Amino acid sequence: MTATTLPGLSPHLEAVASTMAAALASAEPRVSGLIDGLGPFHGKLLRPSLCLLVAGTLGEADRRHHALGAALELIHTATLVHDDLIDDADTRRGRTTAHVRHGNTTAVLLGDFLYTRAFTLVASLGDLEMVSRLCAGTNTVCEGELHQQMVARDADLSEDEYRRIIYGKTAALTELAGFFGALTGDDTQRRAAAAFGRDLGMAFQIVDDCLDVNGDAQKVGKTLATDLERGRVTLPLIRVLAASSAGERNRLEAQLLRASGAEQVETARRILIDRGGVASSLGTARELVASAKQHLSRLPDTSARAQLAELADFVVARDF
Ligand code: IPE
Ligand code: IPE
Ligand code: MG
Ligand code: MG
Repeated sequence: MTATTLPGLSPHLEAVASTMAAALASAEPRVSGLIDGLGPFHGKLLRPSLCLLVAGTLGEADRRHHALGAALELIHTATLVHDDLIDDADTRRGRTTAHVRHGNTTAVLLGDFLYTRAFTLVASLGDLEMVSRLCAGTNTVCEGELHQQMVARDADLSEDEYRRIIYGKTAALTELAGFFGALTGDDTQRRAAAAFGRDLGMAFQIVDDCLDVNGDAQKVGKTLATDLERGRVTLPLIRVLAASSAGERNRLEAQLLRASGAEQVETARRILIDRGGVASSLGTARELVASAKQHLSRLPDTSARAQLAELADFVVARDF
C-alpha cells in the first residue's frame, strides 16, 4: 500500500499536485526546467495524505487543505534537496539528486526557492495563524537538522536527545500536517490529530533510520547507509552501544561511528543488524504507531479514520 492507493484520496492528492505545480510555476524557462527535474510529485506524499485524511474525518477536504498539504510537501521537498547535499547522497525518489545534477550552489538556491514558494502559498490563504504555524514548524525542522549536525559521532548521545532530534527534523512537520487537517475541528480534535501526526512522524523517522541500515536502495529509491558514513547516531546504534559490555564498547564505538569506506560501512551495518539494534528500534516504532492510533479515538469514526490507521500500519510495515 502507498498513500496514493488509499481509496477516495486520489482526487484530493491530484488537487494537491496541481496546487504544487501552480505554486512552483516560473516564467523563466531555465528555472522551470530545474523544478521539473526535481520529481516534486514522486515521493510517497505522506504529509499531504495525512492532512487530507484527517480533514476527511471531519467532513470533505477543501482548497485550504489542498494548499496546506501542498505547502507541507514543498517544505519537505526543500529539506530533502538540502539534506541530500549535506549527506552527499546521489539518488532521491529514484532520480539523480539536484546537487549532483546542477552543483551545490544551485541546489541550495533551489531549496530556498521551494521554501519561499511554500510560505507564499500559505500566505495567500490570508490566515495568519496558518502562516505562523508553518513558519514555526519549518524552523523546528531546521533546528532539528542543526541539532543533528552538532551530535555527529557523539557516542554518548542519549535516547532522549535522539528523540528530540527526530521530533525536530521529522515529527514537527507530520504533527503540523495532522493539525492542518483538523483545521475545521474543535480544540480536542486538533490536538488529537496533531498528536497522531507527531507519533507517526517519530515512528516514520525511526523506520527510516532502520532502512538506512538494512533497506534495499532500489526499493527505497534513495542512497542508503549515509547515516553510517556521516557518523550519525541513530536509534539502532544507540541500542547496540547501550547493550555492549564495557570491554567491547570502545571497539564498537570506533566501528560504528568512524566507519570509512565501503568495507567498514558494511561491517557497521552487519553489527547493527546482528546485534539486534534494528529489530529493537523497529519495536519502538511499533509502540509509537500503537500510541498514534490511540489518538484516533478522539476523531469521528469514519472511513477516513480507518484509512489513517492503515497509514499508520504502513509506516512500520514499509520497505520503501
Ligand atoms: C524522507 O522522507 C526523509 C525523512 C523524513 C525520513 P520521505 O520518506 O517521506 O520521502 P519521500 O517524500 O517519500 O520521497
Ligand atoms: C531526514 O533525515 C531529513 C529531513 C527531515 C530534513 P534523513 O537524512 O534520514 O533523510 P533521508 O534518509 O536522507 O531521506
Ligand atoms: Mg539524508
Ligand atoms: Mg535517513
